[in-house]
Amino acid sequence: MYGPELERCRLCSLFKEAQKAVPGTGNELAEIMLIGEAPGREEDMVGKPFVGRSGKVLDRALLAAGLNREMVYITNIIKHRPPNNRRPYNKEIRACSRYIDQEISSIGPKYILTLGSTALQYFLPGVKMRYAAGHVFKWQKIDIVPTYHPAAVLRNPRLEEKLLDAMVLVASLAPHKSSSS
Ligand code: URA
Repeated sequence: MYGPELERCRLCSLFKEAQKAVPGTGNELAEIMLIGEAPGREEDMVGKPFVGRSGKVLDRALLAAGLNREMVYITNIIKHRPPNNRRPYNKEIRACSRYIDQEISSIGPKYILTLGSTALQYFLPGVKMRYAAGHVFKWQKIDIVPTYHPAAVLRNPRLEEKLLDAMVLVASLAPHKSSSS
């Protein structure tokens, strides 16, 4: 997708403390793209998005919606882990934006599920999660459904229902799931 450029990325200073860059993975023909915030500890070691505890929550939501990782494309706004999983700074989000923008233009998703407020703010600045979660917003011809981050579900299990509902909504909007099926 972005080739060796990402592994050698020095556009911000996050690479200094990270082990690995974490590119997006999954079906490059998918109609549905899931976008999280940034790699955590496990993702940083493995080099793949959502392979830790948050990934298990995400897999449950995919399963509940009749989806799996081969049917969607999963990525993050930020490709190198922020130290101690702190929120990425705006300047890091700006520096990293070329990768997410590249992924969106090459995959051409029809639906994007944003996981957490960093991804929500990237597309819909100023929109508050508590009003936006589970609703559909238009962004450059793409339907965006914001929802809570799986890590927020781990902290507050009552949010899991919201994550599942949003995933089910996205799955129902995308009857073909990918341009190959
Ligand atoms: N949290 C994220 O936002 N992304 C990951 O890949 C893992 C945890």
